[in-house]
Formats: sequence, structure tokens, C-alpha cells
Amino acid sequence: MSIISTPQSSVIPTLGGAYYVDPAVFASEQERILEAMWFCAARSADLDRPGAFRTVQVGRESVIVSRSRRGEPRAFLNVCRHRGARLCTEQSGVAERRFQCPYHAWTYDLDGKLIAAPNLTGMPDIDRVEYGLRAVALREWLGYVWICLADDPPSFEDSVIGEVVDRLGDVDALSHYGIDGLALGRRIVYDVAANWKLIVENFMECYHCATIHPELTEVLPEFADGYAAQYFVGHGAEFGAEVAGFTVDGTEGVGRLPGITEDQDRRYYAITVKPLVFINLVPDHVIFHRMYPMAADRTVVECDWLYPPEAVESGRDLSRSVELFHRVNQQDFEACERCQPAMSSRLYRDGGVLVPSEHHIGAFHAWLRERLGT
Ligand code: FES
Ligand SMILES: [Fe+2]
Repeated sequence: MSIISTPQSSVIPTLGGAYYVDPAVFASEQERILEAMWFCAARSADLDRPGAFRTVQVGRESVIVSRSRRGEPRAFLNVCRHRGARLCTEQSGVAERRFQCPYHAWTYDLDGKLIAAPNLTGMPDIDRVEYGLRAVALREWLGYVWICLADDPPSFEDSVIGEVVDRLGDVDALSHYGIDGLALGRRIVYDVAANWKLIVENFMECYHCATIHPELTEVLPEFADGYAAQYFVGHGAEFGAEVAGFTVDGTEGVGRLPGITEDQDRRYYAITVKPLVFINLVPDHVIFHRMYPMAADRTVVECDWLYPPEAVESGRDLSRSVELFHRVNQQDFEACERCQPAMSSRLYRDGGVLVPSEHHIGAFHAWLRERLGT
């Protein structure tokens, strides 16, 4: 077992408070992180037919993620090529064969090509491809649509899949769970009054587990000692001896996912895919968090509970299973919201301090500083 970062005896400070409240820092993060890296935009199955779309905020841009007539996922900047009106104002919906701008009715097909506009035939200079919607780089992975606004996107293998490899040791360990074949059992959206980095930092450490997660530490007794599973490459936290499943009361879950190994049974693995995705693996389901940073002090978190399709279709009671991590989410987000106002305190100008079991958060801060050039 190797350790992701070696604990050091020297004091490691956190980021200063301004990183969590300053609009200029947030603007820089939008440009250098959110618009530059791969962003997990939508669940593929939510785009369930041609024309189905979702609009998502990625940094400073609004993006339409949709499905083409041939059933392929597409992503476009949500900006009309005529005079810049926002094309779709709804969060989600189904476009019947086309996107039409509500301003002067320029109309684009589901591949983004300009197909109609009032008097278009009388305007030979308006090229229908040239003035089509601006496409955004796109990949499908784990049943989600990932997009990147960068002109020259970083390697998906290195930057996204590489995070999984760093955490689990290899990507096969993740593929055993068959995430792209799972079905949505429940989705809960949390509107959190905290900076996105407070949520990342909280997810990376378990020093708080004994204090705020009574149900989770019942199921995963080693979490009561404060050592986050993410600290060790390939390590998953083991269920307590009396625990039958990853449920709020430790009762049985929905059965074991067919592909997982003996080693993966009765264990919980957490993965942070920087900047905005958390993946939680347990033997019978997967909990997939996606964050949408809306402002320095506000982050929307969409959390999906994914199960084998039979478990969802049979109408089986998933409530005890969902309830465990829903409580964990509420407990975590409340803690983040408790920290947020204090980030502008004079006392926090130079930040706080990381205890040894949190030292790996220092690597996240170093990564952030490097991205921001600070
Ligand atoms: S701005 Fe969209 S048609 Fe004019
Ligand atoms: Fe937590």
C-alpha cells in the first residue's frame, strides 16, 4: 500500500480566506479551471431522445448539452450567432428537431447548423455552417457527458481517468462496477452556500467523520479514527463486522454488483476527480456527485445514486440505501456552510492549519495555486 502524500511534521497552512470569498479569485478559477478542464456536464441517460437538452453553467459560459437526430451527444455554447441572444433559457427540455432563437428566429438543427432565418435566402453572405452554433469538445464516460471549453482540451486519459488511476491504482478497479450500465435510483440536488473548494477539501478528509457522521462511522468504523480512505492508493474502508450493507441502519443493500472482486466487496472507495466530481463506490451501488460552482460562495451539487437497472425497475425500496449518503451530504454541506462566512474573517486572512491526516489537502492547494498562477 503506498501513500499519496507523505505526512510531514512541519505545519501546513490552508489557503487564505480570500481564496473562498474573493470574486477575482473565483473569476480566475472560472477561466483557468472550469473553462480549461474537463467538466462533467450531464448524465447521458437524461438526454433520452433526439433534441433532449440540458443547459449547464461552465465557468462564465452557458452550454447546451443535447442529443442529435442520430442519437449522439452534442454540446454547444448557448449563444445565438446572430446578435448573441441566449438560445435556451430552460434548464432542460426537448427541442423538436431544432433550436430556434426567440429573438429573430434564427434556427439551428440538432447538429448546430444554421438551417433557417427570416430572409436567409436573400442573405448569401451568411454561411450556414460558418454561422452555426459553436460546438464544444465532448466525451462520454461512465454514463456521463463530459465537456471542455478549452480550444485545445487536455488529454481526457491523463486528466480525468488519471485521477482514478492515482486513487485506485488502475482503471480496471473502477470498470468492475459497470457504472455506465447502472440506472438512476435517486437524484438529490443540494444548493450549498459555500465555495466549491470547501466541499472538495471536506470530501478529501475524514478528520470530521467521528464528529458529524454518526451513521457513516457505524458502517465504516475505521472512519471514526479520522483517516480518509483517499489517503492510501487502492485502499477502501471496510464495513463493520455487524454491517450487512451500505445503508443508514446497516441492513442489507440490494445485492452485490456482478463485476466487483472479492477485495472490493464490503468496502467503500471514494475518488475525487478534480476539480468537480466525486465518485463513491460500494458493493451494491455507486454515488456520483457533480458540482456546479455558481459564485464564490455558492455551489450546486447534483448527487446521483446509481443501481443495477433491475433494482430500480422492480420498484424495490432504496430509501435506506439512499438515506445513508443523503445524511452524509447534509452533514458535510452544513459543515461547509458553517466555514464559509468565517472565510472573510480577519482571523482567517492567512488561513488555518492542516493536521497530519489532512496533509493530502495541501496537494490540492498546491495544484490550485499552480493552476491559478498564484
Ligand atoms: S439574436 Fe438570435 S436570432 Fe437574433
Ligand atoms: Fe464528510
